[in-house]
Amino acid sequence: MALHNGLQLRAAEPGDVDQVAALLEARGDPADAVDMRLVVGDPDEGLTACGVVVDGARVVSTATLLRETVVIEGVQVPTGQVEMVATDPAYEGRGLVRALMDWAHERSRHRADLLQVMIGIPYFYRQFGYAYAMPIPLVRPVVGDGPTADPTVVVRRATPDDIGAMARLQDEAQSCADVRVPHSPACWRWLVARDGSSQLVAERDGHIVATCRITPPDEGVTIAELAGEPSATASLVAHARALGPGAIRVVERPGTAAFEAIRLNLAPLDGPDGIADWFYARVPRLAPLLQHLAPVLVGRLERAGLADRRHEVLLSSWRSHVRFSIGPDGMSEVISGGPEQGPVSKGGSGVPPDAIPALLLGPDGATGLEERLPDCWLGRQRELMSALFPPMTSDVLTFYLAV
Ligand SMILES: CC(C)(COP(=O)(O)OP(=O)(O)OC[C@H]1O[C@@H](n2cnc3c(N)ncnc32)[C@H](O)[C@@H]1OP(=O)(O)O)[C@@H](O)C(=O)NCCC(=O)NCCS
Repeated sequence: MALHNGLQLRAAEPGDVDQVAALLEARGDPADAVDMRLVVGDPDEGLTACGVVVDGARVVSTATLLRETVVIEGVQVPTGQVEMVATDPAYEGRGLVRALMDWAHERSRHRADLLQVMIGIPYFYRQFGYAYAMPIPLVRPVVGDGPTADPTVVVRRATPDDIGAMARLQDEAQSCADVRVPHSPACWRWLVARDGSSQLVAERDGHIVATCRITPPDEGVTIAELAGEPSATASLVAHARALGPGAIRVVERPGTAAFEAIRLNLAPLDGPDGIADWFYARVPRLAPLLQHLAPVLVGRLERAGLADRRHEVLLSSWRSHVRFSIGPDGMSEVISGGPEQGPVSKGGSGVPPDAIPALLLGPDGATGLEERLPDCWLGRQRELMSALFPPMTSDVLTFYLAV
């Protein structure tokens, strides 16, 4: 695709890889170059996942779209995640990442993704339709000597052969979350191969009983994605402590057995450290996503005791709206339409477009959003909306750690 001043946007080609790696390293860190080579070399992603803007033969901007799955109360939602975004300083501010985000979103739409999620620098991605949707877990320092290691457990770095066991432990840890994002099979391959973080496993009698992911021990280790048997968790923390000097920190995972086992060994957080960052999410089109979530919505209606009759739902995002009906015999087709400025007077609700990701994925639910947003009005459908869109807990695993 031709951009201005002779620049071209296209999928990466083999001859671009070294330049993309160098650009990511220059604008991020050396681990980003390693990660990029893992992604473009993987059969599930490949070179076409990576978009570049070139000036002649020179790569001047890049972004990569990864495949993800967001699971909402058991329903899998095909999702895209944009990562590895960078522009050469000499070409900044010319709309190159805006063009690459359009390219990535079009690619995501083409393969039938219904959602995009990502971690990113503050505010920037809101300009491309993303909104802060799910809190990122807090990171807490280990106090004192930390938990006592279980002598029956051996901790070692994971190999590709351990992926199945690690994925099972992560599935168990995520089972208590309403919204979960597991690592894709490709991501597991990158995680055991990359050096930006390492995977650890704790083994007892040849069986993997716990796992976690750790950052390089340069300035103290951060332990994330802790999962598995409670007593083995202590061994993972003790192992991380032995890797080098500096504070050990643990990413919270409330409600999981592994995290609760060491909770008392962690310092409380106050001030800015106690304020969560958030994952971004983007809902490109609400109607197909709601349609896909019909089994979830019908289940919620039943659990709320509201499935005794049929309900007509009008949900306006002010500049557009959706309508559907839901009741004891299921959910109708979701119809979308244009601006709807008076939903409440018609018995419906208004939720601004930038609150839709939080409505579907976030911890506030419809009523929590109404309390804090001046342009969120639930109207006479309040009870129905709070049943259909309750507060969500989430557990999100991403290629890059949000620490
Ligand atoms: C952040 C970065 C990717 C922006 O690339 P870019 O090609 O200059 O971005 P664009 O020109 O497409 O900017 C798109 C819009 O964002 C605005 N913008 C640019 N940099 C911004 C920033 N850091 N924060 C907020 N907005 C920004 C632009 O003004 C533009 O707005 P407009 O379309 O309304 O005019 C680039 O500065 C970079 O490589 N930074 C270092 C690496 C990095 O932070 N990567 C992102 C990791 S998540």
